[in-house]
Amino acid sequence: MLDLLLRHCTLPDGRTDIDIGIEAGRIVMVQPQRAAQSAREIDCAGQLVSTPFVDAHFHMDSTLSYGLPRVNQSGTLLEGIALWGELKPQLTQDAITERALAYCDWAVAKGLLAIRSHVDVCDDRLLAVEALLQVRERVKPYLDLQLVAFPQDGVLRSPTALRNLQRALDMGVDVVGGIPHFERTMSQGAESVKLLCELAAARGLRVDMHCDESDDPMSRHIETLAFHTQRLGLQGRVAGSHLTSMHSMDNYYVSKLLPLMSESGVAAIANPLINITLQGRHDTYPKRRGMTRVPELLAAGVPVAFGQDCVMDPWYAGGSGDMLEVAHMGLHVAQMTGQAAMRQCFDAVTTTPARILGLEGYGLDVGCRADLVLLQAGDPVEAIRLRAARLLVMRGGKIIATTPPATATLHLPGRPAAVDWRTA
Ligand code: FE2
Repeated sequence: MLDLLLRHCTLPDGRTDIDIGIEAGRIVMVQPQRAAQSAREIDCAGQLVSTPFVDAHFHMDSTLSYGLPRVNQSGTLLEGIALWGELKPQLTQDAITERALAYCDWAVAKGLLAIRSHVDVCDDRLLAVEALLQVRERVKPYLDLQLVAFPQDGVLRSPTALRNLQRALDMGVDVVGGIPHFERTMSQGAESVKLLCELAAARGLRVDMHCDESDDPMSRHIETLAFHTQRLGLQGRVAGSHLTSMHSMDNYYVSKLLPLMSESGVAAIANPLINITLQGRHDTYPKRRGMTRVPELLAAGVPVAFGQDCVMDPWYAGGSGDMLEVAHMGLHVAQMTGQAAMRQCFDAVTTTPARILGLEGYGLDVGCRADLVLLQAGDPVEAIRLRAARLLVMRGGKIIATTPPATATLHLPGRPAAVDWRTA
């Protein structure tokens, strides 16, 4: 006897009328309609049942701090960094914890059950590290939080950053971060990549660097990151986040870079909402989009995930933990409007980041953990178009969030009373 049976599910790969059986928190059956005994049944009525959303790039130490200590007047990256510098000395562990937990509530409600968050290690007190390590434990029953030791002020540029980064890893932070384009010179940037990759290899950790978050076409640290990934045997464990300089690079150089990235097993993480707002700020017109070359990376075999990056913090006043909003923006900025490309945008906020994070038990196969989201949509493309309601969010076979269906009532003579935006 099953604990739960989800009937009449549509899956992201296009299979319809599938029943999903759940027992002891795991998926034990994924089959076309089959008679099965279950303690409980939910009729999914042909709507999309997906694995949970995964955010490959976030900053949980600054989230929900918008307006503290003041608003970013210009809305630029540089004023955001300056503002964060002003806010850091005023931070308390309790305030960081409270805001992070509130954001995790938002995330769960949106079916976002795994987040990789960078945590700034350039404050000698490591308050944010301590706070987020505690948050990681508190949310573990319902959300996987992976932490990256991020030297915001530059691991070589900031005098105590390397020591602090090592302390953060000793305390249990999961991933090695970096910011080579923010070091003082190109060669210092390259040196930081080498140093941090060697540190990760020695400790058996993953790497995720803010890499080339710049409109400067000569910012080529991704080349160095790919090189050291291959040299140190870190294939499949390294990601370059942002990579916005690739947007502005010379096409001939990119034709050499893409196969190098593919060979080295480096993944790319684009952050469409933030890249489209922060890049191209020194341009008049035409203004560059500033997002990395997503379709070309995918065509070269490089895994590409989309991240949220910021929600209501010194850099960005928007966001709500909705990875469908992120996919929606990614689809537009990258002009990924073909049928297959739109589905790749859905993968970029679900299965691809799950692989990049190395999540265990993630998937819709028998044996995977029963972490599922029922969406008010008929397929992944419709889910993105409607930023579909997460009717039901499940973790280990237990319902942890529900949202009523989006609907509207019309008061127009001669027209139907209820509006339903679905067509799939
Ligand atoms: Fe970031």
